[in-house]
Amino acid sequence: MASVSGGREGRPGPGERSGVDGKRVLVTGGSRGLGEQIVRLLAAGGARLATCARTPEHLRSLTASLSAEGHGEPFTSALDVTAPELLERFVEAAGIRFSGLDGVVACAGGARGRGVEEADSQDWSLTWEMNVGHTARLVKAAVPHLRRAGGGSVVVIASISGWKPGPQAQYGAAKAAQIHLAASLARELGPDGIRVNAVSPGSMLIPGKRWDRMRTEEPEAYARFTAELPRGELVTPREVAQVVAFLLSDASSGVSGAHLPVDRAQNAPTPGGY
Ligand SMILES: NC(=O)c1ccc[n+]([C@@H]2O[C@H](COP(=O)([O-])OP(=O)(O)OC[C@H]3O[C@@H](n4cnc5c(N)ncnc54)[C@H](OP(=O)(O)O)[C@@H]3O)[C@@H](O)[C@H]2O)c1
Repeated sequence: MASVSGGREGRPGPGERSGVDGKRVLVTGGSRGLGEQIVRLLAAGGARLATCARTPEHLRSLTASLSAEGHGEPFTSALDVTAPELLERFVEAAGIRFSGLDGVVACAGGARGRGVEEADSQDWSLTWEMNVGHTARLVKAAVPHLRRAGGGSVVVIASISGWKPGPQAQYGAAKAAQIHLAASLARELGPDGIRVNAVSPGSMLIPGKRWDRMRTEEPEAYARFTAELPRGELVTPREVAQVVAFLLSDASSGVSGAHLPVDRAQNAPTPGGY
């Protein structure tokens, strides 16, 4: 599949608008994968960005690339979102630097361990912390800065695994909890003008990652996996990023407490999961 500018994949095309011009947005896990696509789309739309990830080199190359494209430099910090003090300090620093936050995206996440008979208690607690614990602490730390901006939008990246059963129950259970968390926080923070929504990507075709490798290394297994999708194609991270940008924009002012699957009507995992 060729990479194209804008649209379903690739880098944002010139003039690609996302309704986020001037918005101050913090994205966790913005150096690679879906988070990188979100950061790039928002930066191209004129947003001011803060992002974190564990690997400093990836943050440096993202910064260099955005700067070379004329989108300014994001405020970055190398940290693990499961370390509460580091995450809180980063959110505080971003909120002060930007004099408030208009948007927050809890994107960092993932799974540890395998099936229920192999996964140990650490796999369960780490998976919970990476997804749910990090999101709860992120929102708590961001609330004063969102209030200072007069309200804002929080987007929680959950997963198809959070609402359709599949292997790695510790991951699905944590993602389901994120969906519930978003709906609950939307009610709790709504009086302050803070909207909270969850987005559930299907299995994303991310260059060099799991499904992209399967596509090139095991084409027959990939064809079996994607055959059940109505168009036989996985969703792209760009398509998910576009929905995130919409939820951060004022065009979605009436949407809060919602759960938006972005999965091209995907309905079945591989034996290893979604
Ligand atoms: N991939 C899929 O098909 C898929 C499908 C549905 C939902 N999701 C969800 O979408 C989100 C992004 O997935 P992805 O596949 O794009 O993830 P990824 O490629 O594994 O990582 C995305 C970003 O998160 C950072 N990150 C990961 N763990 C972190 C941690 N503990 N602390 C700080 N930063 C961390 C990574 O940088 P470092 O590694 O340098 O920290 C990277 O910048 C996750 O919440 C995932 O559960 C993914």
